[in-house]
Amino acid sequence: MPVGDDSSGMTTTMRAAVCVRAGGPEFLEIRELPVPAVREGWSLVRVMGAGLNRSELRTRQGHSPGVRFPRVLGIECVGVVAASTDPSLPQGTTVAAVMGEMGRQFDGGYAEYALLPDALLMPVTTTLPWEVLAALPETYLTAQGALDALGIRPGSRLLIRGGTSSGGMAAATIAHGHGVEVAATTRRPGKADALASAGVDHVLFDAGGPPRTPWSAGPSHVLDLVGGSAVVDSLRLVHRGGTVCVAGSLSGWLIRAFEPIAMIPSGTRLTAFHSDDTSGSAGAAVLERVVRNVEAGVYRPNIDRVVGLDDVAAAHRYMEDNRAAGKVVMLPDGAPSALRTGPSATQHVGHEDAQRRQQNRHQDHR
Ligand SMILES: NC(=O)c1ccc[n+]([C@@H]2O[C@H](COP(=O)([O-])OP(=O)(O)OC[C@H]3O[C@@H](n4cnc5c(N)ncnc54)[C@H](OP(=O)(O)O)[C@@H]3O)[C@@H](O)[C@H]2O)c1
Repeated sequence: MPVGDDSSGMTTTMRAAVCVRAGGPEFLEIRELPVPAVREGWSLVRVMGAGLNRSELRTRQGHSPGVRFPRVLGIECVGVVAASTDPSLPQGTTVAAVMGEMGRQFDGGYAEYALLPDALLMPVTTTLPWEVLAALPETYLTAQGALDALGIRPGSRLLIRGGTSSGGMAAATIAHGHGVEVAATTRRPGKADALASAGVDHVLFDAGGPPRTPWSAGPSHVLDLVGGSAVVDSLRLVHRGGTVCVAGSLSGWLIRAFEPIAMIPSGTRLTAFHSDDTSGSAGAAVLERVVRNVEAGVYRPNIDRVVGLDDVAAAHRYMEDNRAAGKVVMLPDGAPSALRTGPSATQHVGHEDAQRRQQNRHQDHR
C-alpha cells in the first residue's frame, strides 16, 4: 500500500517494480516512487492487477528499441480511475489498458498507480475478481484479434503453435467455445493437462520441427505464436487455401530468406495481428464481450498463478524458464492467500475458484 500522505489525505508515494537496467530478473527492483501527478490528457489509475507478458521479459532483456531505464514495465493493467482529465472517466471507474507504449515509453502496470493516456483506458463493467480481470486484456484481445484475422468458424480445424503461452491458451479457449476443433503444441508433455483444460482437443508435442497434426488434410487455420522460421512450415502444414496468422515471436521475429512466391503455397493466406490495433476505444467492445463470456463460464481465464508486487522478479524467472502454462497475474496488494504460490509449483485457478471470490471484489476501491 502507498505509505506517504499529503495534507489532503492523498497518498503521495507508491511501490513499483522498476527495471533499473537491461538484463536479468534481478534488475527488477521494488522501489518507492512519487505517485505521478495528473496532467492534461492523462488519467491516474490505481492498479488493482496486471497480467505479465513475454514482451516485458524482452523489454527487460533490452530488446525493445527506444526503451530507456529505469522504467516501470507492464504493457497492461486493470484498476480504478483515481483522477482523470477526461470527464467521461469519473473517479472509481473500473478500467483496463493495454499497449500504446505503456511500460516502454512511459511507466506501466508493475506499480500501485499508473499515469496513462485517457485514450488508452477501456471502461469495464464487471464483478469478476481482480486477478481474473487482470488475466484478460492483452491476452484475450490478442487471441480474439488473431482468430478474427484467421476467420475461424464452427467446423474449422485450428492448429495453435506455442499453445501453452497465455495467448495460445486464450485462443484455444475462445475457439473451443465456438465449436472449432483445436490442436495445440507444447515442448513439455507435462503441460498436456493444462492444454486440455483450456479446450484443446489434440495436444501435440513440439520437437522443434513441424508437428504431426491429427488431420490428414491438415489444419484449415494455423495460429503461429512461435514465429520466426516456424512460419514457413506452418504455411506448408495448413490445408491449401487455408490461413496462417502470425501473432507471436517466441522463436524470433524474422523469417530468414523469406521468399513469398516459393514459401506461400498458391492460394494459401498469410496474415498477422498486432494488439496495438485493439488498444483504447478500438478494443473496448471486444474486451466487454470477453468479460461477459468469462462471467458466463464460456471462456476460462487460464491463470497459471497469481503473485504480489514483491514477487515480480521471481515471476519473470519462472516465465523465462518456460514453466508457466497460461497467464501469470500480479496483484499490487498481494495475491489472495488461497492463490499464493511459490515459484516451484504451478497452480491452475479454475473459474469456480474465481466465482467464489466474486463477492470479495474490491468495492471499497471504487
Ligand atoms: N501480436 C501481438 O500483438 C502479441 C500480443 C501478445 C503476445 N504476443 C506474442 O505472443 C507470444 C506469446 O506471448 P505470451 O505472453 O502469451 O507468452 P508466455 O505466456 O510467456 O508463453 C511462454 C510459453 O511459450 C513457449 N515457448 C517459449 N519459447 C518457445 C520457443 N522458442 N518455441 C516454442 N515455444 C516456445 C513455452 O511453452 P512450452 O514450454 O510449453 O513449449 C512457454 O511456456 C510471444 O511471442 C509474444 O511476444 C504478441
